[in-house]
Amino acid sequence: MAVDVILGLQWGDEGKGKIVDCLAEEYDIITRFQGGPNAGHTLKFGGNKFVLHTVPSGIFREGQINLIGNGVVIDPITLHKEILKLESANIDYQDRLLVSQKTHLILPTHRWLDAAAEAAKGKAKIGSTLKGIGPTYMDKTGRNGLRVGDLAHDNFKQKYESLKAKHLTLLKLYPEIDFDLKEQEEQWFTYLSRLRNMKKVSGEYYINEALSQGKKVLAEGAQGSMLDVDFGTYPFVTSSNTIASGVCNGLGVAPSKIGEVIGITKAYCTRVGSGPFPTELEDETGEYLRMEGGEFGATTGRPRRCGWIDIPQLKYTIMLNGVTQLVMTKIDVLNKLERIKAATTYTYDNQKTNVLPYDLNTVDITPEYTSFPGWKKSLDGIEQFEQLPAEARQYIKAMEEHLNVPIKMVSTGPERVKLIRR
Ligand code: GDP
Ligand code: IMO
Ligand code: MG
Repeated sequence: MAVDVILGLQWGDEGKGKIVDCLAEEYDIITRFQGGPNAGHTLKFGGNKFVLHTVPSGIFREGQINLIGNGVVIDPITLHKEILKLESANIDYQDRLLVSQKTHLILPTHRWLDAAAEAAKGKAKIGSTLKGIGPTYMDKTGRNGLRVGDLAHDNFKQKYESLKAKHLTLLKLYPEIDFDLKEQEEQWFTYLSRLRNMKKVSGEYYINEALSQGKKVLAEGAQGSMLDVDFGTYPFVTSSNTIASGVCNGLGVAPSKIGEVIGITKAYCTRVGSGPFPTELEDETGEYLRMEGGEFGATTGRPRRCGWIDIPQLKYTIMLNGVTQLVMTKIDVLNKLERIKAATTYTYDNQKTNVLPYDLNTVDITPEYTSFPGWKKSLDGIEQFEQLPAEARQYIKAMEEHLNVPIKMVSTGPERVKLIRR
């Protein structure tokens, strides 16, 4: 069997958690392969709402194994809080939530460094979620990191102290900021017990053996392709490979084992944090999308920047990921609009093009829009594509034609049941 992938094609928050939760029953194993608690994946069902940061979004389906892959970075404090919520909802997770031994740990000083580095950047800040993601991946590639498997070793505390000492030296490079290290360390070491008690596996053997036994695996992306450290709007990106290739490194599976690549796009576009956003609307339509779409960060609560869907941008990320099918989410957010726009080409350097420039930060892009009529009605109760208002179908079909990939699912609300499959 192959590993199917669900990932975001924009700047994150496309509704990955919802879609993974919807599809999880069709898989045996759901797994995160990159990112960490910078992610906030919202699931709604049966009148409940859950926001997951580290735990894969298949955890609410009873028979499914959920694996935190080696490419993820874990903060024991966030993980503890997430597990507490699972416990208070009586979710039987103990035997179903596994973690790869090779997963890296976020230390309190990683978060401190993240905050200090951002503060030092001033106006040029990335807009990081301040969860310690960048510094942790830096230690991973710098070969200084601490991994879950290290917990079993006698010298764990010694390794921790030596990495912390390095961080404290580094912190002297930055202007001072408030950080209660003692309190954070106390929590960190207390909640480390969660990880100590969790089932640890050699993730790469685990997944490959499962695949050879015919098990179905779903890899759940975090962030979005435009936040990929190599191909996103650098330096306004996260520190991991968020695109499909990240699945291979983040789980230990060969490229030949990748099956369907399911790319998610909102029916419009959002971004949270700094960085370029060609189709951003800083007007009342942008404000409408933010309010109607509830566009406030699931992790930080920050208002998300909103704009129209961007075809050149999506073509780029479809190419990078080898997307085989699309999901369009939040189409219901457009319900009240008179007209809906989509950027179909860019103009920059006096040229019309579909190609993204080397650096979106330094190029003045004028998007050219195509306008579509709105449908001006609620989509409540609609279960089939053909029941959608003609204008909604027209918009979806136009996007499909531009993008040249079938839109196989359309999400019409945050709840698990609000998904139209074609
Ligand atoms: P993720 O990070 O990609 O999992 O997405 P987030 O959870 O950060 O943000 C998506 C938000 O949109 C959440 O509040 C979801 O509950 C909500 N959502 C998901 N799909 C839909 C949809 O089709 N319609 C509406 N109105 N909300 C949706
Ligand atoms: P999900 O999985 C949206 C953004 C931050 C910032 C940049 C770097 O919920 O889609 P980092 O904390 O990684 O150093 O932040 O990336 N960012 C996200 N934006 N959704 C996310 O995750 C994000 N994770 C990080 O806002 O601009
Ligand atoms: Mg999110």
